[in-house]
Order: sequence, then structure tokens, then C-alpha cells
Amino acid sequence: MGELIFVGLGLHDEKDVTVKGLEEARSCATLFAEFFTSRLMGTTPERLSEVYGRDVQVLTREEVEGGDLVVDAAREKKVGFLVAGDPMAATTHVELRLRAHRAGIKTRVLPGVSSLTAVAGALGLQVYKFGRTISIPFPEKGYRPWSPYQGLQQNLDANLHTLALLDIKGDRYMTASEGMEYLLRLEADRSEGVFTPETLACVVGRLGSPKAWQLAGRVRELLRTRLGPPLHVLVVPGELHFMEVECLVAFAGLPQALARTLIRGGGPSRPIE
Ligand SMILES: C[S@@+](CC[C@H](N)C(=O)[O-])C[C@H]1O[C@@H](n2cnc3c(N)ncnc32)[C@H](O)[C@@H]1O
Repeated sequence: MGELIFVGLGLHDEKDVTVKGLEEARSCATLFAEFFTSRLMGTTPERLSEVYGRDVQVLTREEVEGGDLVVDAAREKKVGFLVAGDPMAATTHVELRLRAHRAGIKTRVLPGVSSLTAVAGALGLQVYKFGRTISIPFPEKGYRPWSPYQGLQQNLDANLHTLALLDIKGDRYMTASEGMEYLLRLEADRSEGVFTPETLACVVGRLGSPKAWQLAGRVRELLRTRLGPPLHVLVVPGELHFMEVECLVAFAGLPQALARTLIRGGGPSRPIE
């Protein structure tokens, strides 16, 4: 009897997988991985193959979403499907799991450390105060959806923080600056005061690596700052508790003068006059 196990690899390199994930992956007959939803910037498929003691076959989006390769392999043997972060967080792999389940194949999910929660921890923001996560795509000719702007607006209206995940296309990783410029372009079109150069934002890079970094400030200041290497995420805070403000000062370089305005004003990330 075969089995399909989704293994979360965590955030940065081959050491971020859980001990259970490592042991299960080593016991699989076949290992597949995908790096189109996210990447481990501190390692390579070759290194992963060494650690797991078997070849890791990296699949394209088409192979995962359009084909039967993974499901067919899991009919007869134990197959591991390796995914950066948590395998089910901000991915569509539940569809693959359902396909396997419908084919009568046993499935399991071994969770991994996810950027969706690690970002809150790095910044000192409270995870239960985040609203809907938004995703910012690389704009293309005639394609610049405004759903990220709309999602941000809804979260701000509910005083909630917003996590913005940034697009990956092959070896192109959207930077937080590109993400902010995307939202500023939509602001220029819609003029609803949702995301302006005066908005308070946070940017975080290389979560989970020894060189992880995080910054908080007004958008116009962040856009002038040289950011560290990707992967990046962007956070737009909603209403901030005073302890969250203190964390942004302590851990993300939020200027004290701006912090004082936030505490006095109840912490809106709308433009502060
Ligand atoms: C589509 S989401 C997938 C999230 C992944 N499944 C997880 O649980 O972390 C990928 C996006 O998350 C963010 N991200 C993932 N890992 C990151 C890291 N180590 N540091 C910063 N951002 C990261 C980036 O914006 C990246 O484009």
C-alpha cells in the first residue's frame, strides 16, 4: 500500500525541517519537492538529497497541479512531497492531497515552520491581530489586480494587521520595495488613502536564517532604504498595542519619534498628519 506524506521544510535551509519530517522523508521510497510556492534560500536540492539519502526530484507547477505523477507514484510506495515552510500554508497543495485521497491513497501532513506565523514573531506583533493575508503578484501588461489593495483596506477598517506575501516567478523574487510600489500604484488609481508614502509598514527578509532582518517605518523611508536579500514579506500594521510598538522599536528599528505618535494616536497605520 502506498502513502503520500506532505513534509514542511521550514524557512531557510535543510536544518529547518522537524525531526519527524526528517525521519519520515528518509524512510520514503520516492521524494518529490516543489519550490514554486516558496524557496529555501540557504540550501539546494542536491544538499537536500544528501541529507535524506535519496534523490529529491524537483517538480514544476504543471507537474504538480496538472499531472498524475505524484499520485501515481504514491499508489504503490511511500512518497514524500517536500514543501518550503508549512506545506498547506498559502499553497494549493490541499488539491493534490484530495486527489490522492480520492484515489484511495493514505495521506498525511507533517507541518513545518511557516513564514505566516514567523513574521509576527520576528516583529513582535500579535498573531491573532492579523486579518486576511494578501498576495502581491508581479504586474504584467494589462494585469494588475486590485484585490491586494481591497484586502488591505478591509483589514485596516477592522483595525487588523495585514501580511502581504510577495510573488515568486522562477528565479525572480518580488522585493518588499516592489510590493510597496505595487500598492502605491493602486493608491494612485483609487485615492482612498489605504497605502500612501506616509503609511506605517514593516518589511522582513530571510526569516529563519542567521541573516534575518526586519525594519519598520513610513513607506517613503522604507523605499529609500537598501533592503537585505530576499525572500521578503511586507506587513502593514493595523491598530497597535503599546507593547507591539515597543517591539517594533526594539526589534525593527522603528524611529522613537514615530513610535510616540503611534501610541498617542492609538496606532493607526493610516497616514499620520
Ligand atoms: C506563497 S507563500 C508560501 C508560504 C510557505 N508555505 C510557508 O508556510 O512559509 C511564499 C511567500 O512567503 C514569504 N516567505 C516564505 N519564506 C520566507 C522567508 N524565509 N523569509 C521571508 N519571507 C518568506 C515570501 O513572501 C514568499 O514569496
